[in-house]
Amino acid sequence: MTLPRPVLTPETFAQSSRAWRRDHHRNYLVMYSSVWQAFSTTPELWALPPDDHMAHRGDGVFESFKIVGGRAYCLEEHLERLRNSAAALSIALPHDFGDTLPLLKAAWHLGGIDDFTCRICVSRGPGSFTVNPYDSTGPEYYMVTLRLGRPAPDAYERGVSIRTAPFPAKSEFAGIKSCDYLHNVLVKKFAKDFGADYAVSFDSEGFLTECPTENIAVVTKSGELLAPTWNRILRGVTLSRVMDLAGGLVRAGTLKTVLNEDIHRDRLWDVMGEAFLTTTSFDVMPVTEWDGRPVGSGRPGPVARELLRLVAEEYASDGPHTTWLKDWPEGLWRKATPQAAPRAGSRSKRVRPASRTGAAGRRNP
Ligand SMILES: Cc1ncc(COP(=O)(O)O)c(C=O)c1O
Repeated sequence: MTLPRPVLTPETFAQSSRAWRRDHHRNYLVMYSSVWQAFSTTPELWALPPDDHMAHRGDGVFESFKIVGGRAYCLEEHLERLRNSAAALSIALPHDFGDTLPLLKAAWHLGGIDDFTCRICVSRGPGSFTVNPYDSTGPEYYMVTLRLGRPAPDAYERGVSIRTAPFPAKSEFAGIKSCDYLHNVLVKKFAKDFGADYAVSFDSEGFLTECPTENIAVVTKSGELLAPTWNRILRGVTLSRVMDLAGGLVRAGTLKTVLNEDIHRDRLWDVMGEAFLTTTSFDVMPVTEWDGRPVGSGRPGPVARELLRLVAEEYASDGPHTTWLKDWPEGLWRKATPQAAPRAGSRSKRVRPASRTGAAGRRNP
């Protein structure tokens, strides 16, 4: 019998995968997998076991954070949310989780650039294709780094348009950053299909929640910054920082107050003076159009502009919310690259995580 396609062997697998290299792979830098206990800088070879429950049931949790100029922003806050998401699904943290910082430093070194996004997934793990979490052999850890994507600079000058999604928000699971993003996908699809930049959901009680991968906040005409209460949304790391930083605007008299307070759709247009989205990738983005109507003056508002400036200032500084990746601990570095000193932009095939006791999230060691 002639097979329609060849059967791969370990020897032909790499060659065959190489033929699959695509343009988008150019943005992919490094993958670490606890399954391999190794890194890869060859994106076409990156893989998850298909029986990992994260792959076939969305049974896993993830985080995405950015590294700008060699500093990871809000690393500890993201790892804390990952711990909480995993705990909410009763997924034990795999051993590699404790090595996150050395793994990240190694990925930075292998990737050879200082501005990138890091995505960490903790999965239920492989073992059968059932929905039963007890069928898994135990959690796995995957880290991927990607070139940092930024919106076009004029997006901040124009602001973005949003549209109200026709179906209710994600409900009681919104606070868990799980790999089940089907609802978010459909909201995003709705936005694209209807020509808006983003779409936003209200919940079944009519309260404002969030966008598929962005939080939203409103500045009222009387100067209150209002964000939905945390139990209705994913507790955004960016939104949390923005609300903290907005405290300075209250002290300066620009804002009256900063609050988590739910806004009902019936009251939205009466109170809204300004609105903006927050998320790791673009920080703070002014909303200038909502369901075809101008928000405020129809131009980016002053509060969003100032908060964007404050966040960018924070991740370019050496404060408590940034972690230098360049401060490679002496011993670890020597084991990883015996012949070289750490250097941005350098590449080594020899790096491997040498420490099993690294403190994830340690700041500016
Ligand atoms: C559902 C959802 N809400 C909000 C956000 C923004 O969170 P953060 O500011 O932590 O990136 C994200 C990020 O991906 C998200 O997926």
